[in-house]
Amino acid sequence: MTRIVLTGFRGSGKTTVGKLLSLKLNLPFIDTDTLIEEERGMSVSDIFEEFGEEDFRLTESSVISELPPGDCILSTGGGVILDHENVRVLRENSLVFFLNITPEESVRRITGSERPPLTSLPLDHEVAVIMKDRMPAYLRSSDFCIDGERGPEKVSDEIAGIVE
Ligand code: S3P
Repeated sequence: MTRIVLTGFRGSGKTTVGKLLSLKLNLPFIDTDTLIEEERGMSVSDIFEEFGEEDFRLTESSVISELPPGDCILSTGGGVILDHENVRVLRENSLVFFLNITPEESVRRITGSERPPLTSLPLDHEVAVIMKDRMPAYLRSSDFCIDGERGPEKVSDEIAGIVE
């Protein structure tokens, strides 16, 4: 076995799929956004609002550099692949699965959820622009590109089938 890392844009299902995989494969589930919130004692939205994205990214890199050893299912924040050192650490002894969804599906899934804005653009425009910008990094930093549009049960079954 190996550590299973889930990457992808907001709304791609990393957390939901990760929790299902954790049950299916009997491995602990770790979410980098939760580790960040624990370390800072505040929500991701509050960190963005009070200290800005750059400060959030520093804590994100810090929790990634201090991840506990051992096999687990690791769900990551959508921007984790922007940093080369994050990617290097995440790929060590791991299989990285990129959950790929369309911008339209992302907007459908995240509308109404509490997520800090990444730009001053309207949500649909923001998602289209940032997803296009990040796509090369998602692809080059993953071992598998998985169709994330099919719902968490099917996606987690596919990943479990690959790693078992
Ligand atoms: C971010 C995605 C969020 C969270 C933060 C930044 C991003 O995680 O890490 O708001 O830059 O795409 P999710 O992908 O779980 O929403």
